[in-house]
Amino acid sequence: MKKIAVITSGGDCPGMNAAIRAAVRVALAHGVEVWGIRNGYAGMIADNMTKLDSRSVGDIIQKGGTFLGTARSEEFKTLPGRQKAVANLQSHGIEGLIVIGGDGSLTGAKQLGDMGIKMVGLPGSIDNDIWGTDYTIGFDTAVNTALEAINKLRDTASAHGRVMLVEVMGRNCGWIALTAGLAGGAESILIPEVPFSREDICKQLLESRAKGKQYSIMVVAEGAGSAIELGQYIRTKTGLETRVSVLGHIQRGGAPTVADRLLASRLAETAVRSLLAGKSGIMIGYHNQQCVEVPIADAVGKKKDIDPELYRLADVLSQ
Ligand code: F6P
Repeated sequence: MKKIAVITSGGDCPGMNAAIRAAVRVALAHGVEVWGIRNGYAGMIADNMTKLDSRSVGDIIQKGGTFLGTARSEEFKTLPGRQKAVANLQSHGIEGLIVIGGDGSLTGAKQLGDMGIKMVGLPGSIDNDIWGTDYTIGFDTAVNTALEAINKLRDTASAHGRVMLVEVMGRNCGWIALTAGLAGGAESILIPEVPFSREDICKQLLESRAKGKQYSIMVVAEGAGSAIELGQYIRTKTGLETRVSVLGHIQRGGAPTVADRLLASRLAETAVRSLLAGKSGIMIGYHNQQCVEVPIADAVGKKKDIDPELYRLADVLSQ
């Protein structure tokens, strides 16, 4: 294999740049030419791609986002769109592809694989919702960002004796809420994976006040419902003073943590090596401290469960 391309697709996440940098430099070290595709699959369809060298990926390991740009492409979901994309890759003589993105992007990568493009996927998403990997690139940074917010909100919660609700991202998955909530000492963590009733939450809040707790932190995963609505409900039902912060895209930005830079660099190195070894149709995951090859067909279209032990521990520690 003499020429490969790298692409970031779907929602950006901190660590994507570190993954691109590693993919480019590892490939170059093996004498392989590397191209960068701009703006995700939309750029692949529009033939927006350029050759990268070692300097093209300098000064990016510390930056969030993705210097290649990214997008969610509707056209790529159509067969004619994908045919155009494949034709463009072939016209440049690109023999292998590394796709960095979440479930939708990896599904797209699988479809390209089915059309004869040799491809390896890397799990890139703040949500940590991809099956076949213990962690996704970007998750650790997003959780640390959420944790920093929780730490700050705790000051006002304690000073005013309020119920502070913090809504975090994660789409239909509770990993960010659970991890940030446990690390942030939240009293309640509401996630889509665990059913809850608003009445019970109000009851627990009043009980915790009776036990001597002066304030409460609640972390709400966006997939579990609107924290704004819940805050209003709690205020009406209990008379407790509530305030709501929706963290939103703040969690998607910022310099990647050490853990994300290492994860991205290691996964990308393995992706290049796997491609050069003739592998295709796989995602590189991280399991038990090792980079592992997972058939991409197994990884996509599924949701990774939360760790029930983490949930249990968070519950015990919140008492
Ligand atoms: O998948 C990453 C994510 O940030 C989710 O947590 C969130 O639900 C979604 O993307 C937001 O997407 P967009 O940036 O398109 O609004």
